[in-house]
Amino acid sequence: MSQFAVLALLFAGEALAQGAAYSQCGGQGWSGATTCVSGYTCVKQNDYYSQCIPGTASTTAATTTRVASTTTSKATTTQTTSSAPASTTLSTSTTTRPVSTTLSTTTRASTTTSASATPSGGSGSGAWSSAYSKAKTALAKLSNADKIKIVTGVGWSKGPCVGNTGAVSSIGYPSLCLQDGPLGVRYVQGVTAFPAGVQAASTWDTGLIYSRGNALGAEAKGVGVHVQLGPVAGPLGKNAAGGRNWEGFAADPYLTGIAMAQTISGMQAAGVQACAKHYIGNEQEKNRETMSSSIDDRTVHELYLWPFADAVKANVASVMCSYNKLNGTYACEDDKALNGLLKSELNFQGYVMSDWNAQHSTNAAANSGLDMSMPGTDFNGQNVYYGQALLNSISSGAVPQSRLDDMVTRILASWYFVGQDSGYPSVTWSSWNGGTGAPSVSGTHSTVARQIARDGIVLLKNSNKALPLSKPASIALIGQDAIVNPSGANACKDRGCNTGTLAMGWGSGTADFPYLIAPADAIKKQASSDGTKVILSSTDDTTAAASAASQAATAIVFITADAGEEYIVVEGAAGDRLDLNPWHSGNALVTAVANANKNTIVVVHSVGPVILETILALPNVQAVVWAGIPGQESGNGLTDILYGSTSPSGKLPYTIAKSASDYGTSISSGDDNFSEGLYIDYRHFDKAGIAPRYEFGFGLSYTTFDYSGLTLSYTDKSAGSSTVAPGGISGLYDTVATVTAVVANNGTVTGAEVAQLYIGLPSSAPASPPKQLRGFQKVSVASGASATVTFNLRRKDLSFWDVGSQAWKVPSGTFNVYVGASSRDIRLTGSL
Ligand SMILES: *[C@@H]1O[C@H](CO)[C@@H](O)[C@H](O)[C@H]1NC(C)=O
Ligand SMILES: *[C@@H]1O[C@H](CO)[C@@H](O)[C@H](O)[C@H]1NC(C)=O
Ligand SMILES: *[C@@H]1O[C@H](CO)[C@@H](O)[C@H](O)[C@H]1NC(C)=O
Repeated sequence: MSQFAVLALLFAGEALAQGAAYSQCGGQGWSGATTCVSGYTCVKQNDYYSQCIPGTASTTAATTTRVASTTTSKATTTQTTSSAPASTTLSTSTTTRPVSTTLSTTTRASTTTSASATPSGGSGSGAWSSAYSKAKTALAKLSNADKIKIVTGVGWSKGPCVGNTGAVSSIGYPSLCLQDGPLGVRYVQGVTAFPAGVQAASTWDTGLIYSRGNALGAEAKGVGVHVQLGPVAGPLGKNAAGGRNWEGFAADPYLTGIAMAQTISGMQAAGVQACAKHYIGNEQEKNRETMSSSIDDRTVHELYLWPFADAVKANVASVMCSYNKLNGTYACEDDKALNGLLKSELNFQGYVMSDWNAQHSTNAAANSGLDMSMPGTDFNGQNVYYGQALLNSISSGAVPQSRLDDMVTRILASWYFVGQDSGYPSVTWSSWNGGTGAPSVSGTHSTVARQIARDGIVLLKNSNKALPLSKPASIALIGQDAIVNPSGANACKDRGCNTGTLAMGWGSGTADFPYLIAPADAIKKQASSDGTKVILSSTDDTTAAASAASQAATAIVFITADAGEEYIVVEGAAGDRLDLNPWHSGNALVTAVANANKNTIVVVHSVGPVILETILALPNVQAVVWAGIPGQESGNGLTDILYGSTSPSGKLPYTIAKSASDYGTSISSGDDNFSEGLYIDYRHFDKAGIAPRYEFGFGLSYTTFDYSGLTLSYTDKSAGSSTVAPGGISGLYDTVATVTAVVANNGTVTGAEVAQLYIGLPSSAPASPPKQLRGFQKVSVASGASATVTFNLRRKDLSFWDVGSQAWKVPSGTFNVYVGASSRDIRLTGSL
């Protein structure tokens, strides 16, 4: 709790001042200003965070779009955190199960291949009706030349942002600024470098994930970005070595879907358009612009499309189609993926933009559902597929006028939908000159950055109470990952090197660090107040490491594994990792330290799973701290955990195997037919009976939790509404069953637990993974206290995708319900 105390002191002196633009103005534990400077209103974003947003309260009504998920934010009380469920019906429902319920066949995807296909959707359904009517009014005032400007990027590096479209002054429409990325505003100085998506996911804290999205969106808006290019649900992470997995969330569609919805809701409530990417089947960097992903229909629905459905349900403004092909057709001209799955089945109301230079045609792309060409050219200013080429196709009839009108309507509606048509900040910086000149927008966002850096840490091993540290007499900090790159945190363009502490991967999904607190920076500060002697060996040299380790009571050794986007090759890795070992001979470094110090603690900064067998075989390795990809507040978040001011509460968002081959998937050298189907990550380990080293959902605490009191109630066995709305058939999202359990903290310190619910489908369903995550809730519980966790199961959570009828179906029979602390540490079982 010490950081809260420090914050309270810092803000005590300005308690009477008014909050600056985009600054925090309320939330649990907040003691600073609760009113805002003129022109801004303090708007509650969630229990932890209220923020000064431009305008009056009515302009921020979008906060109500926040998705109510099956999870709720931390509760510090022992009360139940949602309304009490219907009476307990423990496992009594097996005899009353209805026969299989086909929800509807109207989910049928369009399979048309007609060149004149006009997708359904784009109709202004759901929350979009007012934005659509404004867009249609504006559309009526536009010439085709105007319309072409709106759908066409001006060309790579021809505007200040990484993507820019043409302005149309007659309707007050600006040159749209599209900018990376998923963890901060790229190429702009003075913004926050947040923890990566994977770190946010490993908190399993929906309140924090929302707050991160909201802070990201506020910063993007503050610097005039209209469309922020994130969050990421593709890659989902079927390949442990996939180069961009860290930009997204988890190797599970349910957790990724919840994280997508929370992030998008937070971003769009702040006023920026979110972009769900990369759609779809972009699971590796190798050959990403030529390889084809062939994914069977059920697997698409149950794994890869699932989180995009949650994104559309959260009213995401835009979707980015990916570089790869699908069944041999480029994703950005795939009629089934764009017109069919996304715009018809999911009823997506926003627009589809191409990934940068992922467009390969004019007519096929336009008729298949691509709405915006980005960046409008290739990286050499060639290949203009919209612009004049699209105008020609409209004239010749190869692309119908109605299709162009639909593109423009979707783009304008999204702009109106998030309220960008009045008082939007302008761009005062350029991506191409160092990004200086932007207003300061980071406010107090370092707080949420630190909370996620801290709460995303997963404690994997802790023998003999090695942690938390308690004023050790001396401590050795060992490895290059302990310090900031001596050439500067931003020395490598787009973070294209693994030098110094690893706090983000590389590629377009990066931002410049305004500062970077390395582990050694924060630990030295703590050590100085504790009177602890610090010995630093800030290289990966094993001789120096052994020498430092032998001089200290405790040795902390830091290792890494990095990855990124394919356009930069780092130490031989062209995006995807070459293997799942620690970089820089990390196993040898840890071995040298452990041979010299009986109390060795290993800290790992990694983009994804690392094989830890060599390290775990060393008896002197007492603790392993999985510190993830933490962003600018890395060292502070880590120190909070190492010294126990906060108990660790992160859980793995993927499986750590004993051997790379255990995953059953790997980077393809050519096309990928996704022959593993539904069986990725823990779904595969469970089915194949392979023991992982640390399973999906695993994470230790400084306290312990006891689970009891399972209740199950299956209240709605009807087919549900078949109305189609953003996200798909609306009945899929109704809560039909509720499960609760009591989590008691029977240890000695306060801690937060992520209770997880997995479902096993009845035997009447086609062969399915033994367990699938379908609920989670994080609760903070004081020692000796308990809390009730509630899992609300949506109709979709109990369904499988029936290929024959092209519909989600609730299978008949008994559902197994597993509630526990990880995908394998199941504490309570029941049935529905
Ligand atoms: C790709 O082909 C598979 C197998 O025929 C099919 O199930 C799937 O729907 C196709 N995907 C797309 C996007 O066309
Ligand atoms: C998919 O690819 C794997 C590995 O390349 C191959 O063994 C398998 O036969 C392929 N399956 C199909 C259905 O093409
Ligand atoms: C706390 O609960 C766990 C799980 O039921 C149990 O294994 C452990 O022994 C309990 N600890 C104490 C101190 O009762």
